[in-house]
Amino acid sequence: MSLEKIDLETLPQHIAIIMDGNGRWAQQQGKIRVRGHEAGAEAVRKVVEAAAKLGIKHLTLYAFSTENWLRPKNEVATLMGLLVKSLRRELERMTSNNIKLGAIGSLDKLPKNVQQELHEVIQKTANNSGTHLTLALSYGAREEIKQAVVEISKKVKNNIIPVESIDETIINEHLYTQHLPDVDLLIRTSGEVRISNFLLWQIAYAELYFTDELWPEFDEYSLHQAILSYQKRERRFGKTSEQLT
Ligand code: FPP
Repeated sequence: MSLEKIDLETLPQHIAIIMDGNGRWAQQQGKIRVRGHEAGAEAVRKVVEAAAKLGIKHLTLYAFSTENWLRPKNEVATLMGLLVKSLRRELERMTSNNIKLGAIGSLDKLPKNVQQELHEVIQKTANNSGTHLTLALSYGAREEIKQAVVEISKKVKNNIIPVESIDETIINEHLYTQHLPDVDLLIRTSGEVRISNFLLWQIAYAELYFTDELWPEFDEYSLHQAILSYQKRERRFGKTSEQLT
């Protein structure tokens, strides 16, 4: 029903999601937090398939932040285990849905088995031409910007580039997301109205969509609602309405 209202000509090219509320969902169900993350992984599968079905070009999911390392050891271990299990289980579906996997973040901080599994699925789906799914893992936007500044500074110091050449394109080229367009629509679930160090540079002109739904409750219909809200808005990029027409 909601699908019919979506204008396929003006879909957001890049959707990013802060998946929040797994813990609260589990608590509401009288379950332990781990069950919330398992239900969250199911929601990931449904939403990725819904995005692929619509023809969304880029979907980026905040799966694990640099700050998430501070969670209790067993919860971190559960999330890492779930990631490996999901990657293994989803490879076939990703292939049949033409999904190409990517990852951004301080990936070298992930456990070796997670790195290996990621690497394998990224390689095996590299030639798929449908939705490009990017998992943000051990990701922090300030860290990303810091490392870009360091890399650019080294190039200036070694006379590889002149300081005058530094512009937005050069900065973009040194971010983890160098191969991705800017975010058009940023979604956050669970009623929190924060950005939490996610894609700070890339969301400069993104439309923000906050919903009270907890992540495990977010489904195809919810994604359609977010896209419909996006399509009702006028994106002016600093211009006036008259200039757009
Ligand atoms: C936020 O819920 C969610 C996370 C910290 C991790 C996201 C992980 C998943 C959705 C599962 C596995 C991911 C993949 C890609 C298969 P929270 O724990 O912060 O919830 P709370 O704020 O209610 O406690």
